[in-house]
Amino acid sequence: MKLVSKKPASALRGELTPPGDKSISHRSLIFASLASGDSKIRGLLVSADVDATASACQQLGAEIHRTGQGAGMLVTVRGTGGEGLNPPTQALDMGNSGTAMRLLAGVLAAQPFDSELTGDVSLSRRPMRRILQPLALMGATISATENGTAPLHIKGNTHLQGIDYTLPVASAQIKSCILLAGLFAAGRTCVTEPGKSRDHTERMLPVFGVDVTDPCCVIGGSKLRAADLDVPADISSAAFFMVAAAIVPGSEVLLRNVGINPTRDGIVRVMQAMGADIEIQRPRQFGEEPVADIRVRYHDALKAMDIPEDWVPSLIDELPIIMILATCADGVTRIRGAEELRVKESDRIAVMARGLQILGVRLQEYSDGIDIQGGQLNGGEVDGEGDHRCAMSFCIAGQIASSTVRVDGASHINTSYPEFVSHLQNIGGLVEGVPANAPDRSARD
Ligand code: S3P
Repeated sequence: MKLVSKKPASALRGELTPPGDKSISHRSLIFASLASGDSKIRGLLVSADVDATASACQQLGAEIHRTGQGAGMLVTVRGTGGEGLNPPTQALDMGNSGTAMRLLAGVLAAQPFDSELTGDVSLSRRPMRRILQPLALMGATISATENGTAPLHIKGNTHLQGIDYTLPVASAQIKSCILLAGLFAAGRTCVTEPGKSRDHTERMLPVFGVDVTDPCCVIGGSKLRAADLDVPADISSAAFFMVAAAIVPGSEVLLRNVGINPTRDGIVRVMQAMGADIEIQRPRQFGEEPVADIRVRYHDALKAMDIPEDWVPSLIDELPIIMILATCADGVTRIRGAEELRVKESDRIAVMARGLQILGVRLQEYSDGIDIQGGQLNGGEVDGEGDHRCAMSFCIAGQIASSTVRVDGASHINTSYPEFVSHLQNIGGLVEGVPANAPDRSARD
């Protein structure tokens, strides 16, 4: 699919509830599948990534039912806590989702059966040694390609040993993988991080009856019990509209029920520091997760900034859209310490740099970041290169560019935000999703 995006005749205005948080949705399904009893989940993200996790959980024996639609959708998961997981009869396909593959690898390493995890072209390029090494220290046997990538062939082992592990990078996926394996291992498993990555696993395991002790430890043999959960809207999806409202003249957008967990709210801090008009309203809790409504109004004097390196884990997924924000700020915005961006669904530094240069942005790429000079955005044909967050970011750029922005390689927006185009249209954005080879006459200049 291609996105065709152009400057709206008037401002972006309205209210919307972005879809459920992707990280929390994966964890809800996995934890509920391991638990005994029926868990009830409201607000679960319906997207290709989360569908991959749901389908793997079903193949492992969980019963998952959806009733209702949209905001009223309720997902019920009958967990396997009593009987244990079923051996899958075929390879489990994780599609595009690194979170699904890395978290499930931790669970599967400890089962009394063998299994295989596969993924699409992008996922099959992403580094897996970061989980294979700690799991091997626990006694797991998992083979990957010689590059350390999927497919992963997992030889189940019910005698894993707990470990004390210090992560080489701040990563919630590695941390969660190890903690999940630790639930089935002998003794205590503890993880220490060089920086604070998202802490949804630590917040959610206690909701399922499992103690997580300081600093970040679980005891092997802990059992999960069914739980009821409300999934907050995803701040990583809200971010596209937060930035759009801040940069399209005259705009005002209210985003409802957005998760503002302090390990995820770096985008709010960046927007405040750049001088955006952003208000956090009605702060409240969805269980253990803080949420709020976020109102953003256009502001015409954004200032560039040096993003502190220790903020990076809290805004890692928002960096592509922060790069678009930076093009509207006065001066040079500097991003460093973000080498992890190169091993996401794409090499996001390279993909964003290529696209932004096509749109006329002056920038300098570094191994661990980028400098972006604020200035006018031109139209042009850019490529999201199969990365959902890059494609949506370029689409928002089209809302302020001097002529139409056409974004190729945008089909993967279904992995995290299938309603992205309709949500942007609902608040007045001029955007269309067209099949990759179809003519897009309606949006020609
Ligand atoms: C995620 C953790 C982050 C993030 C990803 C989701 C999670 O990845 O980029 O989109 O749900 O645990 P890393 O753990 O690789 O930093």
